[in-house]
Formats: sequence, C-alpha cells, structure tokens
Amino acid sequence: MLILGIESSCDETAASICEDCRNIKSSVISTQIEEHKKYGGVVPEIASRRHCENILGVVQKALDDANVTLPELDGIAVTYAPGLIGALLVGVSFAKAIAFSAGKPLIPVHHIAGHIAANYICHKDLEPPYLCVVASGAHSHIVEVLDYTKFHVIGRTRDDAAGECFDKCARAMGFPYPGGIHIDESAQTGDCTAFRLPHPVVAGSEFDFSFSGLKTSVINMIHHAEQKGETINKNDLSASIQKTIADIITEKTLLAAESYGYRKIALAGGVSANTGVRSALAKACAEKGYEFYMPEISLCGDNGAMIACQGSYNFLAGITADESLNARATLSMDEI
Ligand code: KG4
Ligand code: ZN
Repeated sequence: MLILGIESSCDETAASICEDCRNIKSSVISTQIEEHKKYGGVVPEIASRRHCENILGVVQKALDDANVTLPELDGIAVTYAPGLIGALLVGVSFAKAIAFSAGKPLIPVHHIAGHIAANYICHKDLEPPYLCVVASGAHSHIVEVLDYTKFHVIGRTRDDAAGECFDKCARAMGFPYPGGIHIDESAQTGDCTAFRLPHPVVAGSEFDFSFSGLKTSVINMIHHAEQKGETINKNDLSASIQKTIADIITEKTLLAAESYGYRKIALAGGVSANTGVRSALAKACAEKGYEFYMPEISLCGDNGAMIACQGSYNFLAGITADESLNARATLSMDEI
C-alpha cells in the first residue's frame, strides 16, 4: 500500500510517500521560516502564497525520490485541520485535484493525529492504546490514543500552547523566530534554578495546561530588568523557562497516566524536539517503569511523513473524503 501525504497547515510545505503504514520512502519539506523570521512570526497570507508556489514541486520531488508515479498510489492523504485556513486550503485543493485526476481516494488527516503518528514511523513496535502528550506551536494536548484512528482528548491548553510560550519568551529575549530551538540551545549552559517562574494551577481541570502566566511573567521580568538597566543572564533564563515547561508537561502527563491507567506514554509535536522536555519525560517514565516513545528530531516538527503514515491508518479504517472536503482552522480531535 502506497500513500502520498501532503502537509501545508502552517509554514512548511511537505509531502511524503509511505509504504505499508510505517515505511517512509521519501519525505520532502520546504520551509518558509527564513521569510517569516523578518516579521517575528508566521504571516498567514505569505504562508498561503508560498504553499501555492511550492506545492507542486514538493509533491513531484516526493514522488520522484520514492520512484513512485501517481497511478501507483493507493490514496492521497492531506492535512485538512487544524491550522491556518489559507495555508490548509492550498494543500486540500491540491490533494483534491490530483485525487480527482488520478482517480484515487482522498484521505483527510487531522494535523495532531499526524504528529502522534510520527511515533509509529520511529517505533515499529508501538501500538495503541497509549497516552500521548502533544506539544506544538499551536497545541498542547494530552490524548488517549484508543486506536490508530480513535482519540479522546483529556487535557488541553486553556490559553497559549507550549511552543507559543517558548517562542514568545524567546522573542522577548531577542532570539529570532521560531525561538523554541534558541531557548533550547541557550539553556544547555544555563542554571535552571536561577529564576523562580510560576507553575500555573488550572482551576476545574487537573489535566489542562496554561502557559500564558509563565509567558507574561518572563516578559515582565525582562522589561523590569531593562527599565532598571540590568542585564539578565540569557542562558540562565532559558534554562529556567525550559525546566519549568518540561516540569509542567511531565507532571500533567504522569498525573493523567496514573488517573487513566496508562503505562505506555508517547510525546509528539514540534516541542518534542526540546531536549529538556524529552529528558524530563523519559526520566519520569523510567522511574515509574512506563514504556516511553518519542519521535526522532527530524520528525518532531511539521512534515509530510507523519501525514502519510496517519493517512495510511485512516485509509485502512475506511476514512476517506469526497470532493466536498473543506479545510477547518479549528477542529477538536474528539470530533474526528
Ligand atoms: O509542530 P510544529 O512544527 O508546528 C505546529 O504544529 O505548531 O511546532 C512548532 C513549535 C514552535 O513553537 C517551535 O518553537 C517549537 O515547536 N520547537 C521547539 C523546539 N523545536 C521546535 N521548542 C522548544 N525546543 C525546541 N528544540
Ligand atoms: Zn504541527
């Protein structure tokens, strides 16, 4: 079974060919980061325009690299939600057009389900059910992965996502967009106990996240230091931010695992590339005797391989779309 996966939900145009669910034959990513850097964040209209320019070349290269032609495909999977609407519409329209012209099934993929599926590519033994914590630029979720295509969200962010918190703190510290990786690098030589940062308490749901208080506290701290003419040690602040976010993610995930009876845990999403988050969760799971899975770094951020992989499982479960498929800027995993 050969599935083409197409991803265009944010600032990466990506495509991949996946064979028999987990074997990635090609993966092409065209990133727009350099262009958005000038503005300190993703400019939605620019993102849509770049997807429009790049998508044909990216998909053609994915087919060529895998030595596969359109008629040989079993289906065409595409991210249809959630994400920037104009960006998603480029991928959805393109996927529809080639599915129609080649007479192939069209397979809708939820972006977060795609992030979770990145783990299947890296861990051939991983099978549902398990608990997955997904932390990206736009989402922070704790998800019960009941089956390959069945999900139950038990915790979500009430405000900012973990990646957004990393990026906004990084911006206030003068790092370029996207700042998460710069905080990670600078944290390597910092003292994580140097700054006391708030650990949010979310009233009403012990599994929900809240990162805006942490972000505001970091921004205020930087402004106050500037006003007083003091310099803040960036490495120490980075290490303190990273440790706080890693601790919050680890604590909530372990609490959810205990409450719902899971001993198999996975991590996914762009923030799963963070060294502090990876090691904190790995260590906590090892101490509890839980199995722990995380994607290799190259599959943490947005990519086509994760969409092709999840698309393969959707296809096997009979999840296909007709020509009326539309993009959705927001769509809970509970609704798919
Ligand atoms: O999953 P992703 O590529 O896009 C969304 O679906 O949102 O996640 C991007 C997010 C950004 O906020 C980026 O700063 C963050 O992942 N990120 C990191 C690291 N690498 C990427 N955050 C912290 N440490 C990293 N090493
Ligand atoms: Zn993503």
